[in-house]
Amino acid sequence: MKRCRLVYRSVAAPSLLEGTVLAGLVDRAAERNAAAGITGLLVLSGHRFLQVLEGPVGFVNELMARIIADKRHSRFELLSYDQSVSPLFYDWSMTILRLNEVPPALREVLIAKYDLEHGDIRVPNDSFSAHSLLLDARWARATADPNAGK
Ligand SMILES: Cc1cc2nc3c(=O)[nH]c(=O)nc-3n(C[C@H](O)[C@H](O)[C@H](O)COP(=O)(O)O)c2cc1C
Repeated sequence: MKRCRLVYRSVAAPSLLEGTVLAGLVDRAAERNAAAGITGLLVLSGHRFLQVLEGPVGFVNELMARIIADKRHSRFELLSYDQSVSPLFYDWSMTILRLNEVPPALREVLIAKYDLEHGDIRVPNDSFSAHSLLLDARWARATADPNAGK
Protein backbone atom coordinates (compact mmCIF):
# COMPACT_ATOMS: atom_id res chain seq x y z
CA MET A 1 0.00 0.00 0.00
CA LYS A 2 1.38 3.42 -0.98
CA ARG A 3 2.02 5.78 1.88
CA CYS A 4 2.44 9.56 2.00
CA ARG A 5 3.23 12.51 4.23
CA LEU A 6 1.18 15.69 4.09
CA VAL A 7 1.97 18.98 5.85
CA TYR A 8 -0.30 22.03 5.94
CA ARG A 9 -0.86 25.15 7.98
CA SER A 10 -4.09 26.98 8.75
CA VAL A 11 -5.69 29.43 11.18
CA ALA A 12 -7.99 28.27 13.99
CA ALA A 13 -11.48 29.70 14.45
CA PRO A 14 -11.56 31.48 17.85
CA SER A 15 -14.28 29.14 19.18
CA LEU A 16 -11.99 26.14 18.66
CA LEU A 17 -9.49 27.60 21.13
CA GLU A 18 -12.00 27.94 23.98
CA GLY A 19 -11.81 25.58 26.96
CA THR A 20 -11.30 21.94 26.09
CA VAL A 21 -12.84 22.11 22.58
CA LEU A 22 -9.55 21.54 20.77
CA ALA A 23 -8.54 18.72 23.12
CA GLY A 24 -11.83 16.99 22.22
CA LEU A 25 -11.14 17.41 18.50
CA VAL A 26 -7.67 15.89 18.91
CA ASP A 27 -9.02 12.94 20.91
CA ARG A 28 -11.61 12.14 18.21
CA ALA A 29 -8.99 12.64 15.49
CA ALA A 30 -6.67 10.18 17.25
CA GLU A 31 -9.43 7.52 17.34
CA ARG A 32 -10.32 7.96 13.66
CA ASN A 33 -6.68 8.08 12.57
CA ALA A 34 -5.82 4.91 14.49
CA ALA A 35 -8.58 3.07 12.61
CA ALA A 36 -7.15 4.27 9.26
CA GLY A 37 -3.47 3.68 10.05
CA ILE A 38 -2.75 7.43 10.04
CA THR A 39 -0.22 9.01 12.41
CA GLY A 40 0.88 12.60 12.92
CA LEU A 41 1.10 15.68 15.05
CA LEU A 42 -0.81 18.96 15.38
CA VAL A 43 1.12 22.06 16.44
CA LEU A 44 -0.65 25.19 17.68
CA SER A 45 1.13 28.55 17.88
CA GLY A 46 -1.18 31.40 18.82
CA HIS A 47 -4.04 30.92 16.33
CA ARG A 48 -1.92 29.07 13.77
CA PHE A 49 -2.02 25.33 13.15
CA LEU A 50 0.72 23.25 11.56
CA GLN A 51 -0.23 19.61 11.05
CA VAL A 52 1.53 16.58 9.61
CA LEU A 53 -0.35 13.45 8.57
CA GLU A 54 1.31 10.21 7.49
CA GLY A 55 -0.42 7.08 6.30
CA PRO A 56 -1.97 5.20 3.37
CA VAL A 57 -2.43 7.56 0.40
CA GLY A 58 -6.19 6.89 0.03
CA PHE A 59 -7.01 7.52 3.69
CA VAL A 60 -4.79 10.60 3.96
CA ASN A 61 -6.34 12.08 0.81
CA GLU A 62 -9.88 11.51 2.15
CA LEU A 63 -8.92 13.07 5.48
CA MET A 64 -7.34 16.08 3.75
CA ALA A 65 -10.64 16.72 1.92
CA ARG A 66 -12.56 16.63 5.23
CA ILE A 67 -10.01 18.88 6.94
CA ILE A 68 -10.10 21.45 4.10
CA ALA A 69 -13.91 21.58 4.37
CA ASP A 70 -13.85 21.92 8.18
CA LYS A 71 -15.18 25.35 9.22
CA ARG A 72 -13.32 25.25 12.54
CA HIS A 73 -10.25 26.61 10.79
CA SER A 74 -9.50 28.62 7.66
CA ARG A 75 -6.71 29.71 5.29
CA PHE A 76 -5.61 26.11 4.61
CA GLU A 77 -2.19 26.11 2.87
CA LEU A 78 -0.68 22.85 1.67
CA LEU A 79 3.08 23.02 2.40
CA SER A 80 4.16 19.57 1.20
CA TYR A 81 2.80 16.28 -0.05
CA ASP A 82 5.28 13.43 -0.53
CA GLN A 83 4.75 9.81 -1.48
CA SER A 84 6.99 6.83 -0.74
CA VAL A 85 8.78 8.55 2.16
CA SER A 86 10.01 6.85 5.33
CA PRO A 87 7.62 7.66 8.17
CA LEU A 88 8.93 10.19 10.71
CA PHE A 89 5.86 10.98 12.81
CA TYR A 90 4.81 7.49 13.85
CA ASP A 91 4.64 8.07 17.63
CA TRP A 92 0.99 9.15 17.85
CA SER A 93 -2.17 8.59 15.80
CA MET A 94 -2.68 12.26 16.71
CA THR A 95 -1.57 14.54 19.50
CA ILE A 96 -1.10 18.25 20.02
CA LEU A 97 1.80 20.45 21.03
CA ARG A 98 0.89 24.00 22.08
CA LEU A 99 3.97 26.12 21.42
CA ASN A 100 2.74 28.88 23.76
CA GLU A 101 3.04 26.41 26.64
CA VAL A 102 6.54 24.98 26.10
CA PRO A 103 9.17 25.60 28.84
CA PRO A 104 10.96 29.00 28.61
CA ALA A 105 14.36 27.53 27.62
CA LEU A 106 12.84 25.66 24.69
CA ARG A 107 10.79 28.71 23.72
CA GLU A 108 14.03 30.74 23.44
CA VAL A 109 15.52 28.11 21.12
CA LEU A 110 12.39 28.01 18.96
CA ILE A 111 12.28 31.82 18.72
CA ALA A 112 15.95 31.85 17.66
CA LYS A 113 15.22 29.28 14.94
CA TYR A 114 11.81 30.38 13.67
CA ASP A 115 11.35 33.98 14.88
CA LEU A 116 8.25 35.55 16.36
CA GLU A 117 5.07 36.69 14.63
CA HIS A 118 2.66 38.82 16.67
CA GLY A 119 4.28 37.47 19.86
CA ASP A 120 3.89 33.79 18.88
CA ILE A 121 6.51 31.44 17.46
CA ARG A 122 6.23 31.86 13.69
CA VAL A 123 4.79 28.92 11.79
CA PRO A 124 6.87 28.78 8.59
CA ASN A 125 5.22 28.67 5.18
CA ASP A 126 8.04 26.82 3.42
CA SER A 127 8.24 23.05 3.45
CA PHE A 128 11.81 22.73 4.76
CA SER A 129 11.34 24.99 7.82
CA ALA A 130 7.90 23.53 8.49
CA HIS A 131 9.39 20.01 8.63
CA SER A 132 12.14 21.30 10.90
CA LEU A 133 9.60 22.84 13.30
CA LEU A 134 7.53 19.63 13.25
CA LEU A 135 10.60 17.56 14.18
CA ASP A 136 11.39 19.97 17.02
CA ALA A 137 7.76 19.73 18.12
CA ARG A 138 7.88 15.93 17.96
CA TRP A 139 10.88 15.93 20.28
CA ALA A 140 9.26 18.47 22.62
CA ARG A 141 6.01 16.48 22.73
CA ALA A 142 7.83 13.20 23.36
CA THR A 143 9.79 14.62 26.29
CA ALA A 144 6.85 16.54 27.82
CA ASP A 145 4.55 15.27 30.51
CA PRO A 146 2.28 12.69 28.78
CA ASN A 147 -0.78 14.81 29.65
CA ALA A 148 0.76 18.16 28.68
CA GLY A 149 -1.34 20.29 26.37
CA LYS A 150 -4.45 18.18 26.78
C1 LIG B 1 -6.94 21.61 12.58
C2 LIG B 1 -7.76 20.36 12.40
C3 LIG B 1 -7.13 19.13 12.38
C4 LIG B 1 -7.85 17.94 12.23
N1 LIG B 1 -7.21 16.74 12.22
C5 LIG B 1 -7.91 15.61 12.06
C6 LIG B 1 -7.26 14.33 12.04
O1 LIG B 1 -6.04 14.22 12.18
N2 LIG B 1 -8.06 13.23 11.89
C7 LIG B 1 -9.42 13.29 11.75
O2 LIG B 1 -10.07 12.26 11.61
N3 LIG B 1 -10.04 14.49 11.78
C8 LIG B 1 -9.34 15.63 11.94
N4 LIG B 1 -9.99 16.84 11.96
C9 LIG B 1 -11.46 16.84 11.87
C10 LIG B 1 -11.93 16.67 10.45
O3 LIG B 1 -11.88 17.93 9.80
C11 LIG B 1 -13.36 16.11 10.42
O4 LIG B 1 -14.21 16.90 11.18
C12 LIG B 1 -13.41 14.70 10.96
O5 LIG B 1 -12.51 13.88 10.29
C13 LIG B 1 -14.80 14.10 10.85
O6 LIG B 1 -15.27 14.19 9.55
P1 LIG B 1 -16.81 14.39 9.31
O7 LIG B 1 -17.17 15.61 10.12
O8 LIG B 1 -16.97 14.60 7.83
O9 LIG B 1 -17.47 13.17 9.80
C14 LIG B 1 -9.26 18.03 12.09
C15 LIG B 1 -9.90 19.27 12.10
C16 LIG B 1 -9.15 20.44 12.25
C17 LIG B 1 -9.86 21.75 12.28
